[in-house]
Amino acid sequence: MKNVKWVEKDPKREDVFWPSEEMKKIAWESDPSIYEEALKDPEKFWVDRAKEGLDWFDDNFKKNFEWNPPYYKWFVGGKINASYNCLDRHIKTWRKNKAALIWVPELTEEHSRVLTYYDLYREVNKFANALKKLGVKKGDRVGIYLPMIPEVVIAMLACARIGAIHSVVFSAFSSDSLKARLIDAEAKILITADGYYRRGKPLSLKKNADEAVKGTKVEHVIVVKRLGEKINTEMNKDRDIWWEDAVKDVENYCEPEVMDSEDILFILYTSGTTGKPKGVIHETGGYLTQAYWTTKWDFDLHDEDIFFCTADVGWVTGHTYNCYGPFALGATILIYEGAPDYPNPDRWWDIIEKYGVTVLYTAPTAIRMFIKFGDEWVEKHDLSTLRILGTVGEPIDRDSWYWYFNKIGGGRCPVIDTWWQTETGGTLINSLPGIGPFIPGVAGKPIPGTKFAIYDEEGKEITEERYSGYLVHLAPFAPGMLRGVWKNPEKYKETYWSKYGDRIYFTNDGSMMYDKELKVIKITGRVDDVMKVAGHRLSTTEVEGVLTEHEAVAEAAVVGAPHEIKGEVPVAFVVLKGGYKPSEELKKELINLVRTKIGPTAKPENIFFGELPKTRSGKIMRRILRSLVHGEPVGDTTTLLNPESVTELEKQVKG
Ligand code: WTA
Repeated sequence: MKNVKWVEKDPKREDVFWPSEEMKKIAWESDPSIYEEALKDPEKFWVDRAKEGLDWFDDNFKKNFEWNPPYYKWFVGGKINASYNCLDRHIKTWRKNKAALIWVPELTEEHSRVLTYYDLYREVNKFANALKKLGVKKGDRVGIYLPMIPEVVIAMLACARIGAIHSVVFSAFSSDSLKARLIDAEAKILITADGYYRRGKPLSLKKNADEAVKGTKVEHVIVVKRLGEKINTEMNKDRDIWWEDAVKDVENYCEPEVMDSEDILFILYTSGTTGKPKGVIHETGGYLTQAYWTTKWDFDLHDEDIFFCTADVGWVTGHTYNCYGPFALGATILIYEGAPDYPNPDRWWDIIEKYGVTVLYTAPTAIRMFIKFGDEWVEKHDLSTLRILGTVGEPIDRDSWYWYFNKIGGGRCPVIDTWWQTETGGTLINSLPGIGPFIPGVAGKPIPGTKFAIYDEEGKEITEERYSGYLVHLAPFAPGMLRGVWKNPEKYKETYWSKYGDRIYFTNDGSMMYDKELKVIKITGRVDDVMKVAGHRLSTTEVEGVLTEHEAVAEAAVVGAPHEIKGEVPVAFVVLKGGYKPSEELKKELINLVRTKIGPTAKPENIFFGELPKTRSGKIMRRILRSLVHGEPVGDTTTLLNPESVTELEKQVKG
């Protein structure tokens, strides 16, 4: 490809880049006045977007935005179906024959699969009928535990088509994690696969699924044959059915269910500050509106683009940008099944070159990993088709930003640093490719039609440049925002609507106004007990809960320690019960326990045994533990109940 410059450097300001004329010419959004215009009447702005972007069965909304703090609704009375918007409306146009999805398997000797919009439409219709045949009805919950294969989006869209609520569980999660989520959601069906390839090796998934469904309300398990002969899969005759058999004798067309805008589209479990994952609820009309527009604005997808979002569908990024957003837009996505460094550390660059990927969306942790592998893996490839780069999941440091910008983007492509959360449904703070600015480590402005502020502890707005505070979202909340926590209204109120009352959404993130003139926000990271381990969200309490299950453990405290590639890793401090002695074996046993109970991302990098520093009232001083693993001075410990515990732990940590 001809090397087009999509950005240019600010002539005066260091580290600031702007879209080039070429970018402004093609971008969907290049007029900065959109921000002011949208804020004049955000409700009207979003209603117009909802009607312009989506096909409604009824768009005569009774109310645009209804607010009963801390609850709110959008587009009340609107009728819509997400699967219809992602498929049916495209197959009536030339997009019928357009590639919707390019699937790249991990094994290089296997062939990729391309599904056109019509292919996807046909598969979704058939699978929707298969679900109906098994008794799935509107409002029922369906668990999806699948690797990155086309069936994962087919299953999601099929649920959406019949109004069933999907709950996707990351395929690397353990059977215990899956079980807990199936029980909480009271899922009726589980969709899984016999297994998948990881680093070339066939791994069973069905075995985990079998363990997980025991004692749940799951009536049937539908199994995709991904590995076939390569693995031994036992099927329970009365309960299990192969996907290929499920879709055999069903009709080709399934009428999409007419859904209320506020009907639930999906639940997605995420780690909060308690040990128990919360089921974040997203509804249909508002979520899809934000998914559609942010995909269009942030990644500027046009019909010629190929969008490679590297997130697994088990996370919110996969839901919104590997499924609902791009399909609602009629775009082409590419999904890759396997490990980024299989068979070599240049697999992603090989994929980008081979398929002519134009937009890449990934996480800082992946970028740091590639930096480690060395530039030679990148330099072997022609990446000139790339036009836009995106990042998500954690703050990106200046060095990684510049490496991404220069090495991957050839210094030609904007880096869109998107801040958002499972709870927000779609991106909320980031610069737009046709407007800018692009600044290392700075997310940018709130997307059009949304308001944010930075508050101090007391709830006073901080307006000074570069003063840290807490990031809050102000009404009217973005249409894609969560509508609640599944079966747990208390958790919903406590987590988001208690720090500053029920009219202000508390993000649990720290931030600062980076530049007053440019009005751009920098995100500094979580201020609660949530860690981001290799971009994956994990609560320290969840890991502590597993450790204390062990018979030898009396008490445990887990904190996030800095890690060169993963960003953060859990480190545990464990108090043993009387009669138990610290040992390497016990350490390994505990690490393994976490790995099997939660999943590999959660496993502690290290475990230290000893007493935990406590206040006189018996509260664990996590601040001190955090300082220890960060290699920072612990400060005054004389007011502690047991200052000697700190000296003891310090010795161990410094090793
Ligand atoms: C963090 C991921 C800095 C943040 C979509 C947030 C970020 C949490 C960014 C949500 C970013 C996400 N810069 N921090 N661009 N994007 N975060 O629910 O702490 O897995 O609260 O959603 O990730 O993580 P979650």
